[in-house]
Amino acid sequence: MSTFKQEPHKLLLIPGPIEVTDEVLYANAYPPVAHTSADFIPIFGDSIRLTRELLYSSDAQIFLIAGSGTLGWDQVSSNLIEPGEEVLVLNSGYFGDSFSDCLKTYGAKVDEIRADFGAAVSKSDLEKALLAKKYKAVAFTHVDTSTGVLSDAKMVGETVKAISPDSLVILDGVCSVASEEIRMDDWSIDAVISASQKGLGAPPGLSIVAVSQAALKVSATRKTPVTSYYASWKRWLPIMNAYESGKPMYFATPPVNLIRAYHTSLKQITRAAPSLADRFKLHKEASQRVKDAVAELGLKQVPTDPYYAANGMSAVYLPDGLGVADLVPRLAQRDVVITGGLHKDYKDKYFRIGHMGVTAVNPERGDLDKLIAALKDSVREAIASKKLQSRTENKRTTQVRPRPYLRTTSARL
Ligand SMILES: Cc1ncc(COP(=O)(O)O)c(C=O)c1O
Repeated sequence: MSTFKQEPHKLLLIPGPIEVTDEVLYANAYPPVAHTSADFIPIFGDSIRLTRELLYSSDAQIFLIAGSGTLGWDQVSSNLIEPGEEVLVLNSGYFGDSFSDCLKTYGAKVDEIRADFGAAVSKSDLEKALLAKKYKAVAFTHVDTSTGVLSDAKMVGETVKAISPDSLVILDGVCSVASEEIRMDDWSIDAVISASQKGLGAPPGLSIVAVSQAALKVSATRKTPVTSYYASWKRWLPIMNAYESGKPMYFATPPVNLIRAYHTSLKQITRAAPSLADRFKLHKEASQRVKDAVAELGLKQVPTDPYYAANGMSAVYLPDGLGVADLVPRLAQRDVVITGGLHKDYKDKYFRIGHMGVTAVNPERGDLDKLIAALKDSVREAIASKKLQSRTENKRTTQVRPRPYLRTTSARL
């Protein structure tokens, strides 16, 4: 057991990257090893197996590749979709826009169902779209980090397979894996895209993608070549299979330190207390605590229906008259880092807080206590300062406004 303790730092409560445990950070600092070494192969193989377990899948193919969450979009767009094929995107915010852009980059013809700001796409709208046209795939953002909206992944998977069984269901889980339950096999999800830096509790830099065997077959039997070199599953599949069966194989150097850190986090998530089921419960409880505290301050959530509010993050409207710059730096002064809005039409109207991973599952750390205290003080201080500012401005305007008799006087002079 190491005695390593990370440097004192501001509490990182944005919706990713998040706080990581000392053990994870220490693993990341392990001297680099050869990616083909006997030390490293079981770590990689185990990471594949534990990722599968986390997603409640018996046989999904896991790809662990150096890159950020965005690389997951490139992987599914380039491997699963051929130019000219129709894809339906259920758009609940900024990340839906980007996912569409990525799909179009690889030649997909994209239709979108755009939910109102703060809402998720409804079952009836999805059904209507599926009945109107045949889609190669339906893609959606499980938690859109820009709005804190949680889509109903089970409903999406089941609805798509009921109406259009051959359509692939692609879930962007960058902001949901390990903070929201995802039952890949039971819910008929064909691809889950994620990244190391959010609920998965490791530093950024690892793209994590899980693909059903059916989707893998679709990619293997495509008619046109994959138009990406680095993201091609044909190149990565033998590497993943080799590592999983305990053998080394090279295509491009894996981020050995990051995989060690990810492996450490996966073991904490799947092998240590709390259990996976309890982890999801603790995320719900932590989320409710933050949402209750926000409500006590008289502030409103961006998600319009609590059923569609994420459990790993909150998006909250600022008090009237305040902008992001009035609040976020005040929390930073109290050593708590949160962030502003991201949706292009509303970004200065709301702020976002991440409450994933250790922050949610380890109450002894006191992260939520610190956050809630800092939030209360900062909101009150920002409101008081705004009031003072407007009183001073009013006074100044009253003072400088020339009174009629003075104007007459000066005119005479
Ligand atoms: C839902 C979602 N999808 C995709 C991404 C892109 O991931 P990355 O920034 O790691 O490339 C993000 C990033 O925050 C995200 O929140």
